[in-house]
Amino acid sequence: MLKERKADFSSMVEPDRVRKEVYTDQQIFELEMERIHETVWIYCGHESQVPKAGDYATVQIGRQPMILVRGNNGKVNVLYNRCPHRGNMLCGDRKGNTGEFFRCSYHAWTFHHDGKLKNIPMKAAYEGTRYGKDNPDCNVKKAARVQNYRGFVFASLAEDGPTLKEFLGKSIVAFDDMCDRAPAGEVEVVPNCFRVIQHSNWKLFLENQLDALHPSVVHQSTGRAAHEVEKILARKAKGGAAPLSYHMLSAFATVTIDKWDDFQTINYPYGHCILTGYMGLRPQDPDTLAYDKVMIKAYGRKRFEKIVGVNIHHVLVYPGLSVQSPLQQLRAVRPLGVDRTLTEIWHFRLKGAPEAIYRRSLAYYNLVNSPATLINADDLENFWKCHQGLASDGGDWVSLGRHHGRDIEKDGTVSSGPRMGTSEAPMRNQMKAWAKYMQP
Ligand code: FES
Ligand SMILES: [Fe+2]
Repeated sequence: MLKERKADFSSMVEPDRVRKEVYTDQQIFELEMERIHETVWIYCGHESQVPKAGDYATVQIGRQPMILVRGNNGKVNVLYNRCPHRGNMLCGDRKGNTGEFFRCSYHAWTFHHDGKLKNIPMKAAYEGTRYGKDNPDCNVKKAARVQNYRGFVFASLAEDGPTLKEFLGKSIVAFDDMCDRAPAGEVEVVPNCFRVIQHSNWKLFLENQLDALHPSVVHQSTGRAAHEVEKILARKAKGGAAPLSYHMLSAFATVTIDKWDDFQTINYPYGHCILTGYMGLRPQDPDTLAYDKVMIKAYGRKRFEKIVGVNIHHVLVYPGLSVQSPLQQLRAVRPLGVDRTLTEIWHFRLKGAPEAIYRRSLAYYNLVNSPATLINADDLENFWKCHQGLASDGGDWVSLGRHHGRDIEKDGTVSSGPRMGTSEAPMRNQMKAWAKYMQP
């Protein structure tokens, strides 16, 4: 039965439910890598990760090990991490500086930063053969297409397809919102990220990102504990407030389940989604006021109000990115296997903003998104349990029916209905896009 279904992926995805094999089948995973991750635009890194010529960072696109490298001409290239001689990876480290050129650690072939062959040692041995500078097969292969939007570098391994801007569509707001919040109009990566491996299929992570129903359930205990401490600290401050970072956690308990329905999800082609509604992280404390002052100086009051008024909590750029732009956080999803997924958790500095604003983003990074927090641990446990349940014979379908039939569709955009922020519309939209990508 599965064999027949595989020929037609649309039969595995119904408007309000999905076959469990979509999450657990090895062959489907391989096809997903080929038809989705190794075809569409995938986020490779931020250009500030490689500021100087020769700086590189390694990254996975689908099953392909890749290198992001800054050339002498300032251009950022994306190359396959594979030596054309006998296939050795050129870079074994996560990041570094390769100097003037790459030198393969196996037989010392050398390559320019754009992948072109520079030299083969003792090349007389190749005279009269097909190997040498005239043969493009002796260059390190490049990603078919590389584009940069406001410092965020994406690559597509397919020659054809939409441009990055066409692909991102409305989800491009994730990068605009993040950069516009910087007085200098751009962000800078904090050089290292957290890496978490979850024992579940990659789609479970993405579905959880805009699942506004789960926080009040899954993260309630953590939120409640933080709220208790927050109250004690506020009492001690005699009319003052506890540090803002407590609110980042207590909100999981104080924003009750019905309040999440006030948010809205907007779902776009290619599987992207936005969750609107922004938790109250703009109090009138001295740090925020100092930041507002710098921003007003940089942009003028009208533009400033517009920038800080952007009402976004989360943007999901399918199939590999979850962005929380108002807090400068970004999670990149790298599938490792059908039941193993790496997430890289990055955060950014707003260029030109006071240090205290960076500290706030860092607090959110540590308290909500890092592997050290219970928030992350609670999600991870559910991801693993979901995958175990889906791999069982306990049922064939995954239900995505919450508020099904009440979505509002207009010009290819699907919004969850009024007071339906906890709708499963984002999951339905992701699976609709998935079926489209998967159909050859
Ligand atoms: S494998 Fe790279 S030089 Fe031989
Ligand atoms: Fe969560």
